[in-house]
Amino acid sequence: MNQAGAAVLEYVERPDPAAGPGEALVEVACAGVNFMDIGVRRGAFLTEIPDPKVLGVEGAGRVLAVGDGVESVEPGRRVAWAFALGSYAERIAIPASSLVPVPDAIDDRTAAAVMMQGLTASHFATDFYRVEPGDVAFVHAAAGGLGLLLTQIIKLRGGRVIGRVSSSGKAAAAEHAGADHVIVDAGSGFVEEALRLTGGEGVHVVYDGSGPTTFQGSLDVLRRSGTFCWYGPVLGGPGPIEIMSLPKSVKIGYAVYRDHVSTPELLRSRSGRLFDWIEEGRLEVRIGGEYRLADAAEALADMEARSTIGKLLLIS
Ligand SMILES: NC(=O)c1ccc[n+]([C@@H]2O[C@H](COP(=O)([O-])OP(=O)(O)OC[C@H]3O[C@@H](n4cnc5c(N)ncnc54)[C@H](OP(=O)(O)O)[C@@H]3O)[C@@H](O)[C@H]2O)c1
Repeated sequence: MNQAGAAVLEYVERPDPAAGPGEALVEVACAGVNFMDIGVRRGAFLTEIPDPKVLGVEGAGRVLAVGDGVESVEPGRRVAWAFALGSYAERIAIPASSLVPVPDAIDDRTAAAVMMQGLTASHFATDFYRVEPGDVAFVHAAAGGLGLLLTQIIKLRGGRVIGRVSSSGKAAAAEHAGADHVIVDAGSGFVEEALRLTGGEGVHVVYDGSGPTTFQGSLDVLRRSGTFCWYGPVLGGPGPIEIMSLPKSVKIGYAVYRDHVSTPELLRSRSGRLFDWIEEGRLEVRIGGEYRLADAAEALADMEARSTIGKLLLIS
């Protein structure tokens, strides 16, 4: 794998794109920063797209023009999106089917911040493992953009949350999101405390995208027949698993939100549900850092340094 560092990013002038058939040309107000962007920069994801690539998959902005055959959005409409490569830009041409309208009550920053991580979190807690009242969930990186949203959605569904964060400065954010307990640990030392908190039983579900270091511990904190929601391709997994070595009849899977938000209708209904929760005051989106588009490399470096809390945005 090419481990290209943040320094390979360049801020350059390019001609404005045009909206092709089925596309909308969007003026980007802000782009969301995702861990996945680090994977693309390193050459681990989206390798089929030739270099030089424009990073970024998510954002919010305003439609400037539409191409042939587009009826779902019109110029002037405020929109948001997830999974459109090239979002670290001032203008982007996006398939209209990837856009969702943003309600007036939701500002651009909030809309951009909730798309990728909010859709992922709601998929994890409602589809991959359907959290029921009383369930205990273990959430890694609980003060990250994904972790804060996932914690709140589990709580909305009546679950209990044990969060793990890597440093004490992040604990208050996870608690504010509703975590019932927060364990400060940057390695694999969280198991004993999680088992103590569950009376030795373990948790119903563990959400782990934190790399190989936490994998065995995440297995250890599960109760019998618990569910392991693995989701961290950038930080990596444990390597090949011998299925008969798995303990306690646990179920393990790689959760990818695109498998559940797989049609434009689902994209609109799932993002609409997130917007409703925000408007009702039931879901809070914490923006932990705003950077100029020209400073995207700094945003990615801060995320890799584990120094950030909540969502990072690039403002055009
Ligand atoms: N499968 C899917 O559909 C899907 C969708 C979205 C994201 N993801 C994955 O979810 C993970 C989080 O991504 P995100 O974009 O949502 O960002 P995020 O939650 O805001 O991630 C930042 C968090 O990652 C942790 N972290 C950073 N560097 C780390 C390292 N070297 N080792 C271990 N943990 C580290 C930090 O938590 P602590 O320092 O507190 O541990 C930090 O709070 C990534 O692995 C990403 O690939 C998967």
